[in-house]
Amino acid sequence: MKFSYEVEGGNFAKAGNAASNVKKVLKQLNVDPKIIKRIVVALYEGEVNVVAHAYKGMVLVDIDPSRIHIRIEDEGPGIPDIDLAMQVGYSTASAMVREMGFGAGMGLPNMKRNADVIDISSKVGEGTVVELTTKLTS
Ligand SMILES: Nc1ncnc2c1ncn2[C@@H]1O[C@H](COP(=O)(O)OP(=O)(O)O)[C@@H](O)[C@H]1O
Ligand SMILES: [Mg+2]
Repeated sequence: MKFSYEVEGGNFAKAGNAASNVKKVLKQLNVDPKIIKRIVVALYEGEVNVVAHAYKGMVLVDIDPSRIHIRIEDEGPGIPDIDLAMQVGYSTASAMVREMGFGAGMGLPNMKRNADVIDISSKVGEGTVVELTTKLTS
C-alpha cells in the first residue's frame, strides 16, 4: 500500500495530517497499538519539522505486511550538521515557532528513538530527506 501527503511550510494547523491518516490505516491493519504509537510520533515530528524549518515537502508512505517505510522529503534550507541537529535540545526554531509551542529540540531525537531505522540526508540550500523504517510485527 502506498500513500502520499503534501506538507506546507509554515502551516502548523495542518501539521499531523499524514500522521493521523497513517494511524487510521495501521489501526485497520490491526497493528499493535504500541507500534502504531511509535510510528505516529516519529512521523508527526517529521511533519512538524517540514512545517517549521522548510518551505514545502512530501510524505511518502509504503506499507507492506512486515514493515512501514516513510520518506519525508522537503525543499528547504537543509541541515548543515546532522549530528548536531540530532542532539537533544538543539534547535534553530524562530521565536515565533517557539511561541507556538514548537522548537524544543526534541523532534529528531524522538524520531530516532521511535523508529527502528532512521536515515537522514540533506543538502544545504536544497532540502532534507528523512527515511523511517519500522517493523509492523513484534
Ligand atoms: N526538515 C528540516 N529542514 C531543515 N532543518 C531541519 C529540519 N529538521 C530539523 N532541522 C534542524 O534540526 C534542528 C533540530 O530539529 P528537532 O530535533 O526536530 O528540533 P526542533 O524542530 O524543535 O527545532 C532544527 O532546529 C533545525 O535546525
Ligand atoms: Mg522538530
